[in-house]
Amino acid sequence: GKDILGLQHMTVPEIQLVLNTAQEMKGIIRRDIKKVPTLRGKSIINLFFEPSTRTRTSFELAGKYLGADVVNITTSASSVVKGESLRDTLMTVEAMGVDIIVMRHEAEGAAQYASKAVSPVIINAGDGAHEHPTQGLLDMFTILQKKSGFASLKVAIVGDILHSRVARSNIWGLQKMGAEIHLAGPQTLMPRDIEKTGVYVHNRVEDALEGADVVNILRIQRERQQKGLFPSAREYARIFGINKDRLALAKPDALVMHPGPMNRGLEIAPDVAYSEQSAIQEQVQNGLAVRMALLFLVLMGGKEIEAIN
Ligand code: CP
Repeated sequence: GKDILGLQHMTVPEIQLVLNTAQEMKGIIRRDIKKVPTLRGKSIINLFFEPSTRTRTSFELAGKYLGADVVNITTSASSVVKGESLRDTLMTVEAMGVDIIVMRHEAEGAAQYASKAVSPVIINAGDGAHEHPTQGLLDMFTILQKKSGFASLKVAIVGDILHSRVARSNIWGLQKMGAEIHLAGPQTLMPRDIEKTGVYVHNRVEDALEGADVVNILRIQRERQQKGLFPSAREYARIFGINKDRLALAKPDALVMHPGPMNRGLEIAPDVAYSEQSAIQEQVQNGLAVRMALLFLVLMGGKEIEAIN
C-alpha cells in the first residue's frame, strides 16, 4: 500500500496514473455499474475530525461501489470527546484490522503523523491549511475533462489562500503538470513568501483573471479567522467577489471552479456559480471517480486497471 499524504511530493507519472484511472472509473459510474467486487474483503474507515459533506460521502460511496466495507467515525460522536488522543484513536482503528484510514484533521501534518504511527494506508482528506490532495486531483481531473492539457494553462486561484489546503494542493499539483498559477486575494489572506513557489501574486483580482483558462474560487474560511474577516464581508464581495463582470475578463470559455461549500454572494455571485461555465457540480461527480481510482490504486497497486472491468 501507499499513503496519499499530499501532492507536493507526488510525481508526475503518479498523478497521471491517478487521472487515467479516474477516467476508467468515470466510465464505470456512467455505465451505472454501481457494484463491482474489486475491493471485496477490504475495509476503509473514514476518520473525520472536521465537518465534511463531499469528501466523506464520496469516499464512502467510492469504497462501496468497489465492494469494500466502509465505516464512518464522526469524532463528535466518538471517544475523542472523552479525551482520547489522536494516536490512541488511530491505534484503536488499527487494532480492528482496517486496510485504509481516510483522515481529516485540523492540524497540519496530522496525516503524515498517522502514516508513521500506524500500519493501515493513510489517505489525507485535509490536514489544517496544509494539503487536500484528493481535492487537488479531482480539480486537475475536472480541468482535463474540458481543456486539452495543463501546459501553459493560466489558472487563477482567488480568495482565502492563507487558510486553504485546496490552494496548496492545487498549486503543487498544477505547477508540476506545467500550468501557470495566478493568485489574488486580500493581503491579509495571502501567505508570506508564496511567490517563492513560482506563482504570480496579484493585489487586484482583475489582473489574475485577465485571460485565465480556469478560475478557481476559494471559500472564505471564517471558522479559521479568529480575528474576524478583514476586509469585511461586504468589502470582500465588492473588491474580490467573482461576478459576471469580473469573469468576463477571463477567456470566454474559462472554467469556473469552487471546491465547496460555497458562501454564495460573498466569494462567488449566484449567477456565476450556476452559469454555463461553472464546473462546480462536475467537480463533485469527478470527486467520486478520483476517490474510486485512489482506493483501487493504493490497495491493488501494480495490477492492471482492466481487472476492474
Ligand atoms: N471540498 C470539500 O472538501 O468539501 P467537504 O468539506 O464538504 O468535504
